[in-house]
Amino acid sequence: MSKRTYRDLPDHINALRDAGLLIEVDREINKDTEMHPLVRWQYRGGIPEPDRKAWLFTNVVDSKGRKYNMPVLVCGLAGNPEIYQVGMGCSLDDMGGKWAEAFANPLPPNIVTSDDAPCHEVIIEGKALLEGNGLDALSIPISTPGFDNGPYTSSSHFITSDPETGIQNVGNYRGQIKAPNRMGMNTSTELRTGGYINWLAWKERGEPMPCAVVIGCPPIVSYASVQKVPEGVDELEVAGALVGQPLNVVKAKTVDLIVPAEAEVVIEGFVSTELLEPEAPFGESHGHVNITEYNGFMDVTAVTQKKKAILTSWVSQVAPSESSVIRRFAYEARQISYLQDSLGITGIKHVKAHEPLTSLSRVIALSFEKETPRTEIWRALYGLASFRQAEGKWLIAVDEDIDATNSDALFWAMAYRCRPQHDVHVLKHKDQGHGPRSLTEPEDAAVLIDATLKESFPPVSLPKQEFMERAAQIWDELGLPTLRPESPWFGYSLGEWSEDLEEMAVRAVKSDYWETGKVYAQRRRSDVAMNTEVRTVSDKVKKRGDE
Ligand SMILES: Cc1cc2nc3c(=O)[nH]c(=O)nc-3n(C[C@H](O)[C@H](O)[C@H](O)COP(=O)(O)O)c2cc1C
Repeated sequence: MSKRTYRDLPDHINALRDAGLLIEVDREINKDTEMHPLVRWQYRGGIPEPDRKAWLFTNVVDSKGRKYNMPVLVCGLAGNPEIYQVGMGCSLDDMGGKWAEAFANPLPPNIVTSDDAPCHEVIIEGKALLEGNGLDALSIPISTPGFDNGPYTSSSHFITSDPETGIQNVGNYRGQIKAPNRMGMNTSTELRTGGYINWLAWKERGEPMPCAVVIGCPPIVSYASVQKVPEGVDELEVAGALVGQPLNVVKAKTVDLIVPAEAEVVIEGFVSTELLEPEAPFGESHGHVNITEYNGFMDVTAVTQKKKAILTSWVSQVAPSESSVIRRFAYEARQISYLQDSLGITGIKHVKAHEPLTSLSRVIALSFEKETPRTEIWRALYGLASFRQAEGKWLIAVDEDIDATNSDALFWAMAYRCRPQHDVHVLKHKDQGHGPRSLTEPEDAAVLIDATLKESFPPVSLPKQEFMERAAQIWDELGLPTLRPESPWFGYSLGEWSEDLEEMAVRAVKSDYWETGKVYAQRRRSDVAMNTEVRTVSDKVKKRGDE
């Protein structure tokens, strides 16, 4: 087995611990009632994003008092952007380039023997998968106690293959634990997941679909499993490219698939392509409970795992959450690359999806350089609205000076830089997408909003940067609470600002404003109405008594 340079899950947990990003809970925690609500507070309790942590639960029980010897890592992959950066091994700024590079140059994995694969240290198969020894031995928590109908795997990477080409796909889907040897599979049709496309192909052949579900693994595989990788490209190869080394993989025990050798737990089995079973309620990432649907189910043929396996569980449901953080950077990298590389749009700087409560897919801001042609702005708006079935309901084009991650700033741009009669288009016939489904209205629409400046505006009415910076120093000297600057935090020109006006402002800060008072006194006139803008009338001053 070649020397591994990428991190497996225990290495990653150590890195989080070293970086002060891990909370370790060794008191008893009930996985069905306490675990997710406890972690949920870090998203609903006013804890700033940088202070959110990964959580490792080492003393896990259920409501019947059953003890589980498998620790659970919650928010360990993307509790906040810093945790995501630790796992990805690069800065957020480099993320876009890193994904694009990996899509273009996938690295085929390295197949190792079963003896060399840590995920085959313990193998439970066939009849051994009885009560107490099958899926019920895994410490899988309930995500939304009070609504979910049981424990669901949330960080479960479903590996399936195309029956014709054998090309594998890894997609992260929830899995309802239904019996010691049976679990659900919910491949969303609106997200057009690779797993769903493969399922259709196996159904066409009239055969059940072989499947391996990985829970806990080298973090890079988890990141790839939620990314929209180009169709026909194997996420395991993209993951290899992301870490710059072929991933170690091993042939699964009972299905014809390869799985990451350093996986913590792998559930193998066959998904029926003939029958579907009710699945859910389950609290979903769009912030509502997904009511019962007919979905896939898998008859389990084996559970393989490390001797000291650690289970991962992701907090999803109402955003922000681990689920939205893990998707945020991956999705934005893909959207900007589509606009720039596939559509060749000029002037686009970045794409930022709104996250809290809306969960990334519904409200998306596109930032443009100054002077970007209007045609490019509209091409980008229409392009992104059509990019994916379930993304882009409210698309807002803004100028670069607007902080697209700040909803107040977005509303500000919409409030003043957009004339709805010209700058809003409704694109009909959009899929309802990922959200609570309407029984009365099968279609949705996208609203495209150009909230960029169409003409010069007066400056932003905040003190210039130098004055705000000086004031921040005084603020510090006074020992006041730490400032967290929000854009805009200083004033700047938006095009309409003459030398004349600048001169007056410069005089004013030198406390020479009486001078301005004198100049204004000379410019009195009688032929204008109150509130008439000076710029709209001729400079020739008409004095009282003039003809
Ligand atoms: C926590 C979490 C749970 C998810 N659950 C599901 C799910 O149950 N079904 C689904 O289709 N997609 C789900 N997704 C989104 C998919 O992982 C995502 O669309 C991925 O790109 C699918 O990969 P694929 O297209 O290769 O199958 C989930 C994502 C996260 C982060």
